[in-house]
Amino acid sequence: MKVVKDMQDPKYALSRRTFLKGVGTVAAASVLPVSMVRLAFADPSRDFTFAYISDSHIQHIKGGKFVRNWDRGLIRAVAETNLLDPKPDFVVFGGDLAQLGTKEELDHGAEMLAKLRYKAYCVMGEHDYYLDLGEYWSKLFGDHHYSWDHKGVHFVVLNSVLTYDDWTFNRWPTAEQRMLEMAGLDNPNGSPFMVGERQREWLRRDLAKVSEDTPVVVFSHSPIQKLYKGWNFWTEDAEDVQAMLKRFRDATVVHGHVHQIQYNQIDTISFHAVMATAWPWPYPETYAQAEHQMPKLTVPMNRADPFFERDATGWQLIDVHTGRTTLKYNLYNNTNRTVGFNRDTGRPEDGQFQDPAGRAPPQSHY
Ligand SMILES: [Fe+2]
Ligand SMILES: [Fe+2]
Repeated sequence: MKVVKDMQDPKYALSRRTFLKGVGTVAAASVLPVSMVRLAFADPSRDFTFAYISDSHIQHIKGGKFVRNWDRGLIRAVAETNLLDPKPDFVVFGGDLAQLGTKEELDHGAEMLAKLRYKAYCVMGEHDYYLDLGEYWSKLFGDHHYSWDHKGVHFVVLNSVLTYDDWTFNRWPTAEQRMLEMAGLDNPNGSPFMVGERQREWLRRDLAKVSEDTPVVVFSHSPIQKLYKGWNFWTEDAEDVQAMLKRFRDATVVHGHVHQIQYNQIDTISFHAVMATAWPWPYPETYAQAEHQMPKLTVPMNRADPFFERDATGWQLIDVHTGRTTLKYNLYNNTNRTVGFNRDTGRPEDGQFQDPAGRAPPQSHY
């Protein structure tokens, strides 16, 4: 097998191939960096890819009006995903389809997702959940947590945005206020996310049927790590979930919510964040100030350029090969990035920016 560090090898450029077909017929695509690298492996029969779209934050204004910028981000991601060649095996939507969880927003978002020409799996985000606790979302997309097997990999979807019952059921006079309190950043009235005991018990039973040699990929909305509490880049019972995943030789957690590239390795578990189609979050300045809160291996990214409304937003293609996961970030108005597992170092790495000398310095955001 070729290891992922080969991505840095100049000869790699020779194996670049175009993934989007019909480029000439799509005006927007002509200005996009539409080619991606596909890794070659000794046993290609086990390789497969899927696409990942997340955090569209479809926002209702009134009547038939929605925030145009957020609509465009999702429409573009769906259109580009449909043009992929070779086709991904399936698509995952990583949560925060809606901004405030209303039927109008969820219906409008579901309508756009329905244009995907692949099977789609959906993950619950807090912006989808806290208005009616996921009731309408379930009518559209089904269960909040579930699992399936695909080509020898065990996939799990978790609802990681639950919180304490007292906060959910007793604190707020209206569902709308509950939603708004959970939607804000730096809000002292918010509450940390968690997978919760009941779902952890389900996960324990689900994983008990899976052998430790089977690669496991978990999709959550919040990171199953404790990164930055002020913005709820945080899952309160992350260690309990990690403890269940550690016994697998190759476990990967892919999450949305943070709207930025992050990656990390804890024991045998690789963690990857995906971009949003709506807007990017900068890395908070406190990430740089309090280094222990930053995943060690994440390369700082500059703040998005406000003159490009789609800067640092995008979607990503994920290769799963023999259990290890490579994320290719398709950034609309920014340099495309690839983060893949390096078997030599035993962790995910950004092929282009891993070298400290080549990193963009973190910026001051406030
Ligand atoms: Fe989000
Ligand atoms: Fe979120």
